[in-house]
Amino acid sequence: MTFRARHLLGIDHLKPAEITTLLDLAEEYVALNQRTVKHSDALAGMTQINMFFENSTRTQASFELAGKRLGADVMNMAMAHSSVKKGETLIDTALTLNAMHPDLLIVRHPHSGAVNLLAEKVNCAVVNAGDGRHEHPTQALLDALTIRRSKGRLHRLTIAICGDIAHSRVARSNLILLGKMENRIRLVGPSTLMPSGVAEMGVEIYEDMREGLKDADVVMMLRLQRERMDGGFIPSEREYYHRWGLDAEKLALAAPDAIVMHPGPMNRGVEIDGTIADDINRSVIQDQVEMGVAVRMAALDLLARNLRAERGKAAAGVMV
Ligand code: NCD
Repeated sequence: MTFRARHLLGIDHLKPAEITTLLDLAEEYVALNQRTVKHSDALAGMTQINMFFENSTRTQASFELAGKRLGADVMNMAMAHSSVKKGETLIDTALTLNAMHPDLLIVRHPHSGAVNLLAEKVNCAVVNAGDGRHEHPTQALLDALTIRRSKGRLHRLTIAICGDIAHSRVARSNLILLGKMENRIRLVGPSTLMPSGVAEMGVEIYEDMREGLKDADVVMMLRLQRERMDGGFIPSEREYYHRWGLDAEKLALAAPDAIVMHPGPMNRGVEIDGTIADDINRSVIQDQVEMGVAVRMAALDLLARNLRAERGKAAAGVMV
């Protein structure tokens, strides 16, 4: 099996063959999820704990469903009501949970790097469900599966990632994944929302949305992450929509069969026009949600296989 990762902390440490292995397995879970009986026993007897230190709707729900469909015992920690609010550190919380012997820990945290730190302290497999503006690997994987299914391939595509790039872990993970798979990547948005150093990453940068969208096969819109801004990044929402919001007129410049993506939650009328988001001929936003469950099932399944193999070797006294 070509998937060796112990944790899923970012796309950075995955090889193209590991990405393909995961997406191929996810295809099987897409089929399972369309049946009436959606159960498999890939995680039977295992314990999965979801720790979300930041709000989430689709990511948390989809990790919960993924774990349950694979037969794990899934617990959602309500972090807003946890001892973190009483001053406990992230590491103390992690060590407390670790003592309860979870097998899979799914973590979302507002600080970049927090999930990597936590992974060093626990004995189970850790999945990064988004850390600050750093990485959100399962989002990039579900986006990749969505693209592969609608375009028939995941290479040599022109992909425009548009909007608030600077604050987006989704953009960062996608940039790494789509770059590894040899696509042409354009980052489109105001210069105030463009992270420094991206020009050296082999991507094209556009401030003008019309130029950036020209002939693109995939148009990926991002939410304005106002919770990570301290003012001054954009002129006004109205002006932002006028220049960088995706409307029919701007989309007409992309390839005639271009697909429109958004990781959600969407700000309709700010970064995207509601009618485009709802247009089933162009928008694959609901497909992204569907692929999310399947991709997370595949990720949990592969990590659980590696964990079992590692524990099996340790029990047999073999050096790991
Ligand atoms: C994204 C996130 O949390 O990074 N959402 C998601 O996971 N579906 C993007 C966002 O919040 O804008």
